[in-house]
Amino acid sequence: MLVKIRRGWERPEREATDESLFHGRREIVKALGLGTLLLPATAALLAGGRLARAQAGDDPTADLYPVPRDPRFTLDRPITDEMLATRYNNFYEFGSHKEIADRAQALRIRPWEVRIDGLVEKEFTIAIDDLLRRMPLQERLYRHRCVEAWSMDVPWSGFPFKALVDLARPLSGAKYVFMQTQADMETMPGLRQSWYPWPYIDGLTLAEATNDLTFLVTGAYGKPLPRQNGAPLRLATPWKYGFKSVKSIVRFSFTDKRPVGFWEIVQGQEYGFWANVNPEVPHPRWSQADERVLGGGRVPTRIFNGYGEFVAHLYDGMQGEKLFM
Ligand code: MTE
Repeated sequence: MLVKIRRGWERPEREATDESLFHGRREIVKALGLGTLLLPATAALLAGGRLARAQAGDDPTADLYPVPRDPRFTLDRPITDEMLATRYNNFYEFGSHKEIADRAQALRIRPWEVRIDGLVEKEFTIAIDDLLRRMPLQERLYRHRCVEAWSMDVPWSGFPFKALVDLARPLSGAKYVFMQTQADMETMPGLRQSWYPWPYIDGLTLAEATNDLTFLVTGAYGKPLPRQNGAPLRLATPWKYGFKSVKSIVRFSFTDKRPVGFWEIVQGQEYGFWANVNPEVPHPRWSQADERVLGGGRVPTRIFNGYGEFVAHLYDGMQGEKLFM
């Protein structure tokens, strides 16, 4: 996503080895004095376990997990190793690179309130714990395809976005919903990069938001959601490029105007409102034909990231729109 001019010798970030794995491994091996005796995979698991332990214990909804799996949403490839999915992140509020997991532990996830406003019967604010305890929590296995051409396969816990829309009771004039991320100068060093249009926002049409597939994520791998993945509440729209999946949401605003997302503001020539996955429509700077699966090889990318049966109809008759950027 980084919008920068690359010199000829530079390799794109998406092709680089996952640095966090590399450094995390060396650190642990050194600390334990095991030198080369420790197998890399074991050390990497230890690093992940340490972070997971640091994250556990301060989430008052931990007792809710694991939640029952919804069998309609399965995968045809293995679930991504938890350590990879939670150590290779995009969360620009904590830095414009992938190794933000440690820094993101500064994110304060309680108290946390969610504001529902705009074109609704009655605007209100709800504490995240009240929200989570009212919602029908379930687990879904989803593919996640980043616009940078890497992907992962994650067991998310959460609830259908439609349940939030039912709670919000939008007025008939509401056509879109936009979501806004927390923006806390004290804990998010990325906010000092003042050329970015903080806070991070993005939006969906109401028809997209109430589609069966659209999921508000509160957990992953049978536990509360790690901060670096967008605790305590993030979006998952698996047929769209990952930048639509707003993290650490504090506001849902219902509106009759199409929202302009964070990346559309930064670089409207490259990122748009719809951002549906399509292998045949290249990004202006790279191909979208295939993707690097975290922990796996390269596989062909599928139209709507393989979720066409759920969502293709949403775009009937919209040929004039830039649906795939
Ligand atoms: N949400 C916020 N607030 N800030 C971000 O930088 N990055 C997006 C999306 N949501 C981002 C965000 C992008 S580009 C991707 S690919 C996914 O989060 C990455 O999610 P992950 O870190 O859980 O893999």
